[in-house]
Amino acid sequence: MTIDRTGAERLRGRIAVELARTRARTALLTEAVDDADLMRQHSPLMSPLVWDLAHVGNQEELWLVRDVGGRPPVRQDIDDLYDAFKQPRRDRPTLPLLPPDEARAYLTTVRDKVYDLLDRVAFTDRPLVADGFAFGMIVQHEQQHDETMLATHQLRAGPAVLHAPPPPEPRARVAGEVLVPAGEFTMGTDTDPWALDNERPAHRVELPAYVIDAAPVTNGAYRQFIADGGYDDPRWWSPAGWRHRGEAGLTAPMHWRRDGDGWAYRRFGRWSPVRDDEPVVHVCWYEAQAYAAWAGKRLPTEAEWEKAARWDPATGRSRRYPWGDDEPTSAHANLGQRHLWPAPVGAYPAGASPLGVHQLIGDVWEWTGTTFRGHPGFAAFPYREYSEVFFGDDYLVLRGGSFGTDQVACRGTFRNWDYPIRRQIFSGFRCARDASPEEAHR
Ligand SMILES: [Fe+2]
Repeated sequence: MTIDRTGAERLRGRIAVELARTRARTALLTEAVDDADLMRQHSPLMSPLVWDLAHVGNQEELWLVRDVGGRPPVRQDIDDLYDAFKQPRRDRPTLPLLPPDEARAYLTTVRDKVYDLLDRVAFTDRPLVADGFAFGMIVQHEQQHDETMLATHQLRAGPAVLHAPPPPEPRARVAGEVLVPAGEFTMGTDTDPWALDNERPAHRVELPAYVIDAAPVTNGAYRQFIADGGYDDPRWWSPAGWRHRGEAGLTAPMHWRRDGDGWAYRRFGRWSPVRDDEPVVHVCWYEAQAYAAWAGKRLPTEAEWEKAARWDPATGRSRRYPWGDDEPTSAHANLGQRHLWPAPVGAYPAGASPLGVHQLIGDVWEWTGTTFRGHPGFAAFPYREYSEVFFGDDYLVLRGGSFGTDQVACRGTFRNWDYPIRRQIFSGFRCARDASPEEAHR
């Protein structure tokens, strides 16, 4: 259905706001360091920041200026340089990349054309423009690179350049587990206009009763696993995890070091003592899986995570977010790089799900026990490379977003995926287990 004139004007306004708000974050992340730092590769896992910058502009040019707008190319000559599939990350620093000034000028040229297009575009039934989808996709793409660039900042050596107030203190006591009763729920979405292909379609999933942690696993709990010799005991690790632990020399989460009797962590260039009541972050899937085994539990499946986050027992329907259908505010969740680390457990009582599961959205991405696949009835849109080429056994699903994720890119249906060895991302987890027969019939 083509939207009416008022609806179209409202949509234009919303897109303009999101484009500008997201670009301000991109600018902050790339203006916080000098040109040499922008061109440098801070880790073989990451691109130089200046690659992300021009890549964001190039995707915007390809999808909005050329495809939606049907306008002539701005810089067709650089398409290959900024194609993530043609250029592996490790090779990106050796490419003839646009220097920072040229990259910024390119982004401005593309953005001017996009604002011009936004003024005239008709939001017809064409799938790419219905509900402003391509604009929403490009906004979310830039936000995802903003999170990637934030992860690059965390890997960067040298003095701190990013600053933000600390997250809120706990406002509720949150501990223990929550029982989720057996039954069907709706997973995925057909209706969220900017939901990406891998979140679609909505479909019914039947789950037996299970129990899930009310909060993500904290640094304090994770320290007990370390102190108990968890890293040295093959009983807790999968064979692949045990092998990786040995090869990579894993002994603690990334960015931790011993500090007297305790631990310290480095966050964006500053060392401080590890705080016990924060969700643990920068652990790989193998570490999460080993911790869960040590705790006598397991990682939740992706469906279990989503049911805990969205299912409302009062109505039987699935919400957009744990707290309801309203967009996230600063009272609901730690999102959008407002803070530079996860909030302590209990900081967001207003963001809890109806069953009382806390901090599902924001703070840390949560590893699940599920490999990345299409939902039943999946159809690639607008291109196979968005998700479909990653389906299979290589990638594990992460859910819920982190403090570095923008709220627009963080619905209750949003899915992320990565290799089980990765931990430069803002990844944590919570545990789950099957309900006992007594619990299931309570
Ligand atoms: Fe990208």
